[in-house]
Amino acid sequence: MTDTTSFPPLKNDLIIRAARGEKTERAPVWVMRQAGRYLPEFRAERVENDFFKICRTPELATKVTLQPIDRYDGLLDASIIFSDILVIPQAMGMTVEMVPGKGPHFPTPLVVPADMAVQLKEKVDVHKELQYVFDAITMTRHALNGRVPLIGFVGAPWTLMAYMIEGGGSKTLSKAKEWIFKHPKESHELLGRITDVCVDFLIGQVHAGAQMLQVFESWGGELGPHDFEHFSLPYLAQIAKRVKSELGEKAVPMTVFAKGSWYAVDKLSVIGYETVSLDWTHTPESAKAITQGRVTLQGNMDPNVLYGGDEAIVAAATRMVRGFGSTRRYIANLGHGILPTVPVEAMELFLKTVHRVGLEVAAEEKAAEDANDMKIIG
Ligand code: CP3
Repeated sequence: MTDTTSFPPLKNDLIIRAARGEKTERAPVWVMRQAGRYLPEFRAERVENDFFKICRTPELATKVTLQPIDRYDGLLDASIIFSDILVIPQAMGMTVEMVPGKGPHFPTPLVVPADMAVQLKEKVDVHKELQYVFDAITMTRHALNGRVPLIGFVGAPWTLMAYMIEGGGSKTLSKAKEWIFKHPKESHELLGRITDVCVDFLIGQVHAGAQMLQVFESWGGELGPHDFEHFSLPYLAQIAKRVKSELGEKAVPMTVFAKGSWYAVDKLSVIGYETVSLDWTHTPESAKAITQGRVTLQGNMDPNVLYGGDEAIVAAATRMVRGFGSTRRYIANLGHGILPTVPVEAMELFLKTVHRVGLEVAAEEKAAEDANDMKIIG
């Protein structure tokens, strides 16, 4: 189980081909936060074990990563390793607890820039601090037995900085914003230090067996366009560039998800990521017009549609797949993570609809191409 040099051959590579811009038989689909609280089998696991204990125990992380793959057998085209974006602040020296019903909590957040010297390690060795994630990835790759590719991930520097300063969720992010406006130099220092860890961590995940990578800038949209360009975009760009150049031939496709940063889609499509993941504030038409086929698009149904009943789910999923097209540069997903109280049947209907409509669109495209060929021959 610790062998990182030979893994079972991949049986379903749709998502990797979609990310590389190659033609696919239908749009691949997976769902952000697919391994989690909406699954009864995950909730049962959480009765027994603390959240970070699951993250830190490769056997448990593997088990939970596979839960949605087994439950929705054949309907998911990717798995994502069970972990959290907040393992990086932990690796840097901070304490993070997961409070049931409340979410993440930092007992001693960074308050002033001088706290960095006290609270954060000078140098972070990801192999020492986060080896448990690498072990979970390797074990999961073997356990998946090539059924679908395994996605590794990190939180983006601005989102992680915001958590480290706010100490948890926040409506306004006013403490983190005070830093960027009052202490821009120290903010850049912090963002740079987080970026270094993100780069090493993503590289380690690929060496451990991750076949794709996603960077979550979940709080991107809290920054206006100007501030996003200064405090988010350069670090997202650095991550893609450094990870790819250090991995060389071993590089894997990378996805960037900057939630709320609708204004940045054009810029996000030229900084080295194969895929740009969209929240639900975009129409397929506008996103395609902006990105011009330079990247694969991922997304973007409003996760709350899953509360809307069968008709609403089928209508929205159909509109999404028809809008983005099925066979080129598209990966179906939600526009943010699946919510904890979504019924498991709603997720199943979403996945089945994406498959059905994806195949229909592919068949229509093929028929149109054949008709065109006939015209040319005729
Ligand atoms: O996607 C997956 O299924 C893999 C695992 C995964 C988790 N968190 C497990 C989790 C991933 C990819 C994440 C990423 C993550 N974590 C993000 C980025 C994605 C996003 O939603 O924007 C963020 C912002 C976090 C931070 C975080 N972790 C929050 C805000 C919370 C509490 C609220 C919530 O969404 O559950 C968590 C806890 C968390 N992370 C849970 C799970 C399954 C639930 C914790 C529990 O069981 O008590």
